[in-house]
Order: sequence, then C-alpha cells, then structure tokens
Amino acid sequence: MALVTGAARGIGAAIVSRFLSEGAQVMASDVLPVSPHQRSAQLDVATLDVTKSGHWAEAIAQTERRFGRLDCLVNNAGIIRFSRFDDLDETMMRQIIDVNLIGTMLGCQAAIPALERAGGGTIINMSSADGLSGANSLTAYCASKFGVRGFTKALAMELGPRRIRVNSIHPGGILTEMANPGGIPRDLYDRGYWIYPAQRSGDPADVAAAAAYLASDDAAYCIGTELSVDGGLNAGHYYMTMPGAPKNPNA
Ligand SMILES: NC(=O)c1ccc[n+]([C@@H]2O[C@H](COP(=O)([O-])OP(=O)(O)OC[C@H]3O[C@@H](n4cnc5c(N)ncnc54)[C@H](O)[C@@H]3O)[C@@H](O)[C@H]2O)c1
Repeated sequence: MALVTGAARGIGAAIVSRFLSEGAQVMASDVLPVSPHQRSAQLDVATLDVTKSGHWAEAIAQTERRFGRLDCLVNNAGIIRFSRFDDLDETMMRQIIDVNLIGTMLGCQAAIPALERAGGGTIINMSSADGLSGANSLTAYCASKFGVRGFTKALAMELGPRRIRVNSIHPGGILTEMANPGGIPRDLYDRGYWIYPAQRSGDPADVAAAAAYLASDDAAYCIGTELSVDGGLNAGHYYMTMPGAPKNPNA
C-alpha cells in the first residue's frame, strides 16, 4: 500500500499507474485534483499540500482507515522556478525549500509511525539530476534537491535498523509540465537533448519503473541508494572536439 504525493500529473501520476498495474493499493495525493478516470477500488485520493503538517496527519490517517496499512511513501511533489541568482528573492527561495525539502521531511515524520505499524516499509524521495550537479538558473532548486539527497542518506542510516529503507531517485530531462511548461511538441523539444547520451528526453514511466523497483523486495538491499534516471546526463561530460562525442544535429 503506497502513498504518492504530487500525483495529479507527470511523474507522480505515472508512479500511481505503475503501482496500480502491479496490483498495489495506492493513495494518490496532490494540491490539484487527481483525475477521476484514474480511480479504481485499489485507489483513493487525498488533498495533500506537503508543506502542511495537518494535511499529512489527515492523509496518513485516511490511508490507514481506507487500506489498513502503509508500506511505501513516495515524496514526489515538487516545484521549480528558473531565475538568475541576482533575481532570486528570499520568498522564492523559501517556497522551493518549503515544498521540496520541508515537504519531504514532514512526509517522512508523518509516515514513519504508520510504516512501523506495518512492520517496516520503504520511503522514496524524489531528488533530481540537479541534486547531483549544479545548473544555471536553479540555485534554489539545486539547493533543495541536494538537500533531499543528503536528507535521504542520513535518514536511511537511522531507519535501516527500524526496517524502513529510504532511497532517492534523480530524474533528469523527463517530459512533463515541469520540464516543458510550454507544451513544445516532443520531436522539437528533443532537439535540445542531443547533448544527453540518450539523445532524447525521458518519459514519466521511466521514473515510475525506478520507483517500482525501489519499492519492491528486489531492492531489499538498497538503502540510501541514489538512482539516476536521466538519460546519462550526469554520467559525465563530452569533450566535443574529441572522438566519441555526439554531433549537434541543429548546427
Ligand atoms: N520532469 C523532470 O525532468 C524532473 C527532473 C528532476 C526531478 N523532477 C522531480 O520529480 C517530481 C515530479 O516532477 P514532474 O516533472 O512530474 O512535475 P509536475 O510539475 O508535472 O508535477 C508536480 C506535481 O506536484 C504537485 N505539487 C506542487 N506543489 C505541491 C504541494 N505543496 N503539495 C502537494 N503537491 C504539490 C503539483 O500540483 C504537480 O501535480 C518533482 O519533485 C520534480 O522536482 C522532475
């Protein structure tokens, strides 16, 4: 039984679909309405703003009332704002840290007693490729996602002995509203991805597959693991004038 945040669209919605297809029961939550066509006997829906501890208490209680237990929490909800550092203001910085990092922390604190009541479980925190390396326009977002990565490892150390595995996923270049708010058609959008070893953007389903793995017993020995799903973005960098570099198809 899994609780997924930020599940109305994008990666969160794909995780819900994947978990349901594997026969799991899922509580899908968001600040946005979760589309009714996703609903089934295996699925319930909660309004959950991850920055509000009261919402968390209610969502966990609703999950246990409806399904009797909680085995997996996916802290997926997140926001991004692109801005030069000179234009980054304190409000924007606090908002990003509040949703991406404090939201993750509140989720873990609310879920741990329920996971322990279930005899143990897993927590999956959505970090980012930008939680492993820096990116222009993203000082606040990178800080929040590096924070999620470090938080995950420290919490994994504490919760491993309590039979709760904590791991992070590091997506990069996944085609969702966050990455492509203008809805640019994929063939056009992917032209910018020649610099990725994969030579294309990724699908939310690619990240959902990683979440399904980390949630499963196949990942029983994965604790504090950071799993990149980024088309190779963080594998390294190309020396463009040396053999083996991709060619810029737009040049
Ligand atoms: N798309 C990518 O390439 C990419 C790359 C790296 C990391 N990520 C991370 O993956 C996660 C999902 O991203 P996505 O691309 O699906 O983005 P998205 O914008 O399509 O979906 C994010 C969801 O989170 C919800 N949300 C925002 N604030 C919330 C809050 N306070 N409480 C609850 N829900 C809230 C939104 O309503 C939305 O449904 C995010 O944490 C994001 O940072 C995405």
